[in-house]
Amino acid sequence: MNLKKNAGYEAANEITDGQIVGLGTGSTTYYFIEKLGMRIKKEEMEIMGIPTSYQSRLLAKKFNIPLTSLDEFDIDVAVDGADEVDLNKNLIKGGGAAHTLEKIIDYSAEKFIVVVDESKLVNQLGNFPVPLEIIPSSYRLIKNILLNMGSKPEIRMGKRKDGPVITDHGNFIIDAEFNVIDEPNLLETELNSIPGVVENGIFTNAVDAVFVGTSKGIKKI
Ligand code: A5P
Repeated sequence: MNLKKNAGYEAANEITDGQIVGLGTGSTTYYFIEKLGMRIKKEEMEIMGIPTSYQSRLLAKKFNIPLTSLDEFDIDVAVDGADEVDLNKNLIKGGGAAHTLEKIIDYSAEKFIVVVDESKLVNQLGNFPVPLEIIPSSYRLIKNILLNMGSKPEIRMGKRKDGPVITDHGNFIIDAEFNVIDEPNLLETELNSIPGVVENGIFTNAVDAVFVGTSKGIKKI
């Protein structure tokens, strides 16, 4: 059973004709975008998507979803994946380095639905390191601040690319390990107050619903 596919497809079935839809990034939203494209074609829906990354932009093109931008429209519903989801629907995102635009789009949507498989559910955030998108020249400064905060920061290195990952916005990613995050909303604010941090991957007070693909079917939280 493909749990990510089930969650993504379930969210695509929530979209109604005429909506402006935020298109999340990752392997779960792949299925959301695929199914949304299928519905648009079959049901002749008038939907426009706003992508959160080059990945979702390319997928929208592949599945024939018309695109627009935040310059033109507000978002009715955004659907996005997550790396961790806690009991209060706080998230860690950014495993694919796309969390900056994801946060802009997900936070501004009228409704924000998260799609995950059950492996992403945790009691408390922190096992997954928090991704920070940073301005490259601030790397050493930020690394030292994170060390002083008790974190273990690692610059994210490219795969099949020498040197660091470069984000869609031309920046670096630091993955900051905290182990246990007691107050996600405070840490979200604190990390963003470090000079050179563009955005961090903690998402708080933003999620309306989580669609979880489980071996027994979809669980809606
Ligand atoms: C992208 O940077 C991330 O925020 C993804 O949305 C997150 O990593 C979930 O991805 P998967 O659905 O591939 O697990």
